[in-house]
Amino acid sequence: MNNRRNFLKQMSLLSVGAFTTNVAAPVFAIANRRQESFMEDNLTVPPYLQNLTATSVYVMFITAAKSYSWVEYEGEDNAVQKMHMEDDGLYDAYVKLNKIYIPDLQPGRTYRYRVCSKPITLFEPYKLEYGEEVRTGWFTFNTPAADAQEISCLVLNDIHESPEAFGKLLSLVKDRPYEFVALNGDTFHYQTDEQQIVDHLLLPCTNVFASQKPFLMIRGNHETRGKFRREFKNYFALPNDKYHFSFEQGPVFWIVLDTGEDKPDDHPVYAGIVDFDGLRERQAKWLTEVVKTKAYKEAKYRVVLMHIPPYHSGDWHGPMHCQKLFSPIFEAHSVDLVVSGHTHRYGVHPPDTDHSYPILIGGGSKDGTRTIMHIAANTQQLHVDMIRDDGEKVGEYTIKAKY
Ligand SMILES: [Fe+2]
Repeated sequence: MNNRRNFLKQMSLLSVGAFTTNVAAPVFAIANRRQESFMEDNLTVPPYLQNLTATSVYVMFITAAKSYSWVEYEGEDNAVQKMHMEDDGLYDAYVKLNKIYIPDLQPGRTYRYRVCSKPITLFEPYKLEYGEEVRTGWFTFNTPAADAQEISCLVLNDIHESPEAFGKLLSLVKDRPYEFVALNGDTFHYQTDEQQIVDHLLLPCTNVFASQKPFLMIRGNHETRGKFRREFKNYFALPNDKYHFSFEQGPVFWIVLDTGEDKPDDHPVYAGIVDFDGLRERQAKWLTEVVKTKAYKEAKYRVVLMHIPPYHSGDWHGPMHCQKLFSPIFEAHSVDLVVSGHTHRYGVHPPDTDHSYPILIGGGSKDGTRTIMHIAANTQQLHVDMIRDDGEKVGEYTIKAKY
């Protein structure tokens, strides 16, 4: 309940979908009583942003009851629009987990949005009844400018089910700008059920930032474990529905890799139901095509986010396979920076005889060893600060622009 009340205090604004209509006069002021009623009675998780681009975003949230839900949003000088999801002629209704896509946004703009929902109290073939319609307050988000010359973001890794760590670590950089938060693997120990995702990720993040800024769910080896491992992906909006993807934002070309498990696929603990060698090999093939693109070649900086680092992570199968497959591509195509976690030993590893690119590894998962990284890039340089959870800067690295 505290989480929900904290969420109410933060309310400010907006977002998304696949089907849009103008709605009648916007009602910006919502009575507190009504907000609380919505939060307490029909919303398990406030809205969180996913895959925010210059022209689109996904708004996700979870209702307590099976409902018909939608998002209302508006730009600085646009009418309020309504967006919900439709497939095969059917609205996404009588569901709790909502993933609403909003296309056709303008780059470099501020939008505000709110979530609206009607519980479906009776669903018979020829008769459907709704409960009370409820809506949140307004939130805001900013779409990246299409030609932005700077970018900043935060990187957390190896949180390992410590929900209080999100607020604590972000408070250390509260005066710094950032456009997204990268969760660089092992946010969990293993996947059990939805409640675990709600309690250990979604509520802590929406309490701090996730209704206004998106996060990237980068899979670590621990997210591949547990009976809920396959359903896990449903709670995020990943580009092409894959854990590996690339995107341009600011002067940086970002590559996200899914480094899989650390042990060999035939290890008894995996019981014959994984193929991470195949996954990594497919990604290496994909990466060889990505680095051929104009966007990659022309980017001022190329940054890779991958949970298991290609070096400085021991000689188990997973790290060595990452090294064998990915590092030659990084070398041949001038990757500027690799940012990882996994080892629980924070450190800055400049280029050496093994790797021509710097590798920054964040800490975790115990208090006193956690870190948050702030990456900021402009036309002159890319700079990373690594800050330990006691507030001390324990690492930094600067890359000068090549041109
Ligand atoms: Fe790990």
